[in-house]
This record gives sequence, C-alpha cells and structure tokens, in this order.
Amino acid sequence: MRSPKSSLIGVVVAGVIAGCAAPVKTSDLDKQAAFGRPTSEQDLAAWNIDVRTTDGLGLPSGSGSVAAGKAVFDGKCAACHGAAAAGGPVFGTMVGGIGSFKTDRRVLTPGSMYPYAPILFDYIRRAMPMNAPQSLSNDEAYALSAYLLHLNGLVPADAVMTPQTLPAVRMPNRDGFIIDDRPDTKATRCMNNCAPISGKS
Ligand code: HEC
Repeated sequence: MRSPKSSLIGVVVAGVIAGCAAPVKTSDLDKQAAFGRPTSEQDLAAWNIDVRTTDGLGLPSGSGSVAAGKAVFDGKCAACHGAAAAGGPVFGTMVGGIGSFKTDRRVLTPGSMYPYAPILFDYIRRAMPMNAPQSLSNDEAYALSAYLLHLNGLVPADAVMTPQTLPAVRMPNRDGFIIDDRPDTKATRCMNNCAPISGKS
C-alpha cells in the first residue's frame, strides 16, 4: 500500500529525474533566483573581529582617552554597571580585586583577572553594551578600555589607548594562570585499530 508520504517522495523523485533530463544552465538559474548577493570583503570584515589577546594582533586602528571613555561609559554603561563601574543593578564591580586571588575573598574584575589588556577591548567591542552589542565605534571601545584600565589603577588619567599602547599595558594577573599539565591533556586519540574501551562492549 502506498502511503501519501511515499507517493509524495515519488513525485519529488520524478521531479528530480525530469530536472536531470533537461539540464538548466547555471546562467539561467542566476536570472531565476533573484535573491542573495555575493559576500563582499566589507561583509567579511564585520565578522572578522578576533584579536590575539597576548599581543593585540588584529586590533583595529583607532584611539580613545580615559576622559572620552568616561563620557561614553556614563551614557551607555553606567545604567547596568553603576557609576565609575563600581557595580550596578545588573553586574558587580569591574574595579579592584587586584591581588585578591591569593585571599579567601576573590574579587573578579577585568583588572584582577584578565592576563592581557586586549581582552578588555575585544570583550567590550564584541559583547557590550549588552542591550546593543557591536554598536560601539572602535574609538569608543578604545576609550572605554582606557577608562576601565584607569579605574583599576593600571594606566594614568591622561592615557590614550591605541593598537600600540593597549597591548603594552602590563596586567597584574599576567602570570596568574597555570598550564594544565594533567596527564590526560597529553593523550593522543587512537584513530585506527583501537583497542576496545574497557568496560564497554
Ligand atoms: C543592559 C545591561 C548592560 C549594559 C548597558 C552594559 N553591560 Fe557590560 N555586562 C552586563 C552583564 C550582564 C555582564 C556579564 C555578562 C556575562 O558574564 O556573561 C557584563 C559584563 C561586562 C564586562 C566583563 C566584566 C568581567 O568581569 O569580565 C565588561 C568589561 C563590560 N560588561 C563592559 C561594559 C561596557 C564598557 C558597557 C558600555 C558600553 C557595558 N558593559 C554596558 C550588562 C551590561
């Protein structure tokens, strides 16, 4: 007995065969399919925003001062993060905590946690403000980085962050991360004639 489903498959297969019988030129297809467009370099650039955090490779051109950062922060960030990033209704402080990892009261902030300063730029540009991610200009993201680094005591009040100066900021927790050297991280995956995993059939 043919179910409605199998007869539908029959129609589809017949259609495909009919299509094969009379090949359509791709130039004609282009005319028929009037949607989509080629991806431009500009489109790609909008997505290709990763930054190598250790040395800032990939940071875009631009610059921003601490003072400019304060102005942007007050307008676009303080509602969630509080004045001077000291903590607001949505997120705790983004200032201080440096050295707290060695105590029993760890305070995670960009100043206390991030090993490299370009992480701050990358995070802000990519994800903030949370209600409108990727809406900031590069200059704004540099300025906000400068302001938050200044609030954490890591750059002076007249600092200007650029693709050159930002990676040069030495973060206090640079050497605070350890390489995971547990033995299983060195395991090599077997791809051929592998012994059965014990305990499983
Ligand atoms: C609508 C609320 C909101 C706004 C506005 C906002 N943020 Fe955030 N922000 C958050 C939340 C929530 C998190 C935590 C996200 C998470 O942990 O996944 C966060 C996290 C961050 C972090 C990471 C903190 C850390 O400890 O690693 C930074 C840096 C940051 N925001 C900067 C900014 C800046 C700069 C602006 C303004 C351009 C901004 N945020 C605007 C809600 C907001």
